[in-house]
Amino acid sequence: MGAQGVTDDFERRREEAKKRIDRLDSRELERQPDRKDFFDQVYEQAGGDAAAVPWADLQAKKQLADWLADHAGAGRTAIDVACGLGDNAEALAAAGYRTTAFDLSRKAIDWARQRFPDSPVDYRVADLLELPRGWIGVFDLVHECYTIQSVAPSMHRAFTEAIASLVAPGGTLLVYTRLRPVGEAVDGPPWPLTEDEAGHFAHLGFELVNETRFAFQRPDRTSPHVFAEWRRA
Ligand SMILES: C[S@@+](CC[C@H](N)C(=O)[O-])C[C@H]1O[C@@H](n2cnc3c(N)ncnc32)[C@H](O)[C@@H]1O
Repeated sequence: MGAQGVTDDFERRREEAKKRIDRLDSRELERQPDRKDFFDQVYEQAGGDAAAVPWADLQAKKQLADWLADHAGAGRTAIDVACGLGDNAEALAAAGYRTTAFDLSRKAIDWARQRFPDSPVDYRVADLLELPRGWIGVFDLVHECYTIQSVAPSMHRAFTEAIASLVAPGGTLLVYTRLRPVGEAVDGPPWPLTEDEAGHFAHLGFELVNETRFAFQRPDRTSPHVFAEWRRA
């Protein structure tokens, strides 16, 4: 058993939800490469069952938790991009960052607030592609997990640049994403990033400080990932 509350029955409900979501997705994708309506529908149709939100781990990502253990916030600011149900944002706050977290889906934000009623995290509904002006270039730490890959490749560049725009000069950007091996066809969702896409921050005034590469073994495939730490010059 992994995250709290994850049981065999949870896994069964998740598999059922994935099948339902795949059907929903095939209809939506032709209309909306940015999937703006799709995510809200997933959260809505989950009816409060986190098993029906396929990306919800109900715990912070291990790579983020490990990084935070060595990089306490000490009152600096952080923002969690497209925070979903809030577990990564809560880890940022617990490590001492004054944390903002946002998602396009109002349902996700309401759900995160409900899960963490005493949280110091400032949960907001916001669109990454129409960020509040006051957020541009002000955060000491920006955390991105699985957002870029969750939209069609035609949207990757715009999402990457919007995420980069949040980081203060001298600030840190953490990016957790699946990678697509060179030459492998992309058959999303999700659409794992190519090496060029994952490295695009180098063209946006960032230098790579560190990265960890790892892979999840699935019954039918290997799923390569990278957790990268970038610093804005
Ligand atoms: C695959 S989920 C990942 C959620 C979370 N980061 C995590 O790792 O659990 C992608 C998230 O991006 C959000 N999202 C998609 N497009 C967005 C946009 N334009 N602005 C803000 N959030 C967006 C979705 O609502 C969804 O919660």
